[in-house]
Amino acid sequence: MGAKLLCLFLASVLLAYYVYTPIPEDFEEPWKLMLITASFRAIGHLAEVADRLGLMHYMEVLMLITAAEYVAPMSDENVTVIDTEFSNIAVRLYLPQKASDGLRRAVIYFHGGGWCLGQAGMKSYDHLTRWTSNRLNAVVVSVSYRLAPKYHFPVQFEDVYSVTKFFLQSSILSQYEVDPERVCVAGDSAGGNLAAAVAQQLLEDTEVETKLKAQALIYPALQTLDLNLPSYQENKNKLILPKSLMVKFWSEYFTSDSSLREAMASNRHVPVESSHLFQFVNWSNLLPEELKKDHVYSSPTYGSSELAQKYPGFLDRRAAPLLVSDAQLHRLPLTYILTCEHDVLRDDGVMYARRLQAAGVPVTHDHIKDAFHGAIMFVSGPAELAVGHRLLNRYIEWLNENL
Ligand SMILES: *[C@@H]1O[C@H](CO)[C@@H](O)[C@H](O)[C@H]1NC(C)=O
Ligand SMILES: *[C@@H]1O[C@H](CO)[C@@H](O)[C@H](O)[C@H]1NC(C)=O
Repeated sequence: MGAKLLCLFLASVLLAYYVYTPIPEDFEEPWKLMLITASFRAIGHLAEVADRLGLMHYMEVLMLITAAEYVAPMSDENVTVIDTEFSNIAVRLYLPQKASDGLRRAVIYFHGGGWCLGQAGMKSYDHLTRWTSNRLNAVVVSVSYRLAPKYHFPVQFEDVYSVTKFFLQSSILSQYEVDPERVCVAGDSAGGNLAAAVAQQLLEDTEVETKLKAQALIYPALQTLDLNLPSYQENKNKLILPKSLMVKFWSEYFTSDSSLREAMASNRHVPVESSHLFQFVNWSNLLPEELKKDHVYSSPTYGSSELAQKYPGFLDRRAAPLLVSDAQLHRLPLTYILTCEHDVLRDDGVMYARRLQAAGVPVTHDHIKDAFHGAIMFVSGPAELAVGHRLLNRYIEWLNENL
């Protein structure tokens, strides 16, 4: 009996140790967040073990959650939901049933998941895009682009770009009764990255006549050069997106070759030939004082040119939209950027907002102090969080006023 009790006690202590994560003081619902973080951590550990044993690729294990979260397209009294293909790429369409005075607005949405995970049919994304369509009386096109490790850059970008181009044709816009002057691209995390890249690419594309009205970027990933920004340092081990996972996502976008991941983890992946690009992500100039705090800027450390020759994608602006000159930014449309204080990607978004503003683009930058990366996913089910609803409402209100 005594031995059993002791075992139970020890098991509880271990479990408590495993579940415990320091949650920033200003956060609501700390216990719930701790449990969510612990679940994500447990799945990460499971994936690590399966990967090391050679059973399954790390990302394939995480992908099982995406599959478990899948919901079939279901229309409701407000929105007709259809799974179809645009230009041979899977999309989920949300078509409002409410009468409209004239043509409707449209949002082309790219989900997050580090270019490796997620799909339009995931419960949390289905909820977000359905709500967008309902609240704005807008057509929403949510894209299930192909993912790594099976497909690497530029496939993800090309998929979302093809869908966008297909939808922007005047015949398609009129088929869905969409106002060509009120279309935007939007996305969260890796989806924010894709939205920013699509908005830039459209400026160069003479085949597309319709211009985007806006881009909305929710805690986007925007640069591959400096994976040691103050936000990476401060949030290295925080909540559901630790630096190690972000490095995995970034490297996996380009290749499954672990040498790129290792070089990125030590921030020595950029060759000296590309040193001129560092000016575009120089946090010493681009971050406000309150985010620089007492971090000390040090010059970049360069790596071998072999990696960049093998995987040139990581220096490509279609993967890293911050790596362009100011001249290439100034024609971009009205922009919304949401950043969270507790996020390795915080400084990517802050620097892009700053650079766009300097280039004359009208930008609304919402910086949420008591929020973390991924929060907008937690708006339904048992993992629902008040902070998720706050972020969702800010984003929707901006679209409602500006699109
Ligand atoms: C339909 O829209 C109304 C008004 O916006 C809302 O109250 C209702 O919950 C919506 N129904 C569904 C299934 O979302
Ligand atoms: C970054 O900015 C600082 C301060 O303006 C400057 O000293 C440094 O040379 C810059 N580094 C690069 C790589 O642009």
